[in-house]
Amino acid sequence: MKQNKALLFSSAKNVFPNAYAPYSKFSVAVSLLGIDTTIYTGVNVENGAFPQGMCAEASAIGKMVTNGCTEIAEVLVMADTKNPTTPCGGCRQRLMEFSKPDTPVYLCNLEGFLEETTMGLLLPGAFDLNNN
Ligand code: THU
Repeated sequence: MKQNKALLFSSAKNVFPNAYAPYSKFSVAVSLLGIDTTIYTGVNVENGAFPQGMCAEASAIGKMVTNGCTEIAEVLVMADTKNPTTPCGGCRQRLMEFSKPDTPVYLCNLEGFLEETTMGLLLPGAFDLNNN
């Protein structure tokens, strides 16, 4: 588990400079540990037509699903902030699609870990088609 955290952190830090955020100037990198034991990274990719911008979570999920993995074991979100940056509302729903309520979420800045939470705490009462 400790090893996963370190790898998730270094993977996010490696891609952080690739965030394309010329409009908000707010770079985000995400690492997902798939249950296939692969680490999938993503950065935010903004667009001059602002609503077309994509969050780092969506980038990483796209890579994971494209590779054939649809279960997330652990999530790490990194931003260059003093306080923890949490996934936006839409990304909580995106992540939950492939997570469990107890899936760990590590919130980091470039220096290290700031907070550890879970998907269930970030998105209580998540919409679930199978529960209806
Ligand atoms: N952003 C993410 O990539 N993930 C989050 O969880 C929060 C926000 C991006 C979207 C936008 O490019 C920038 O951060 C500022 O909102």
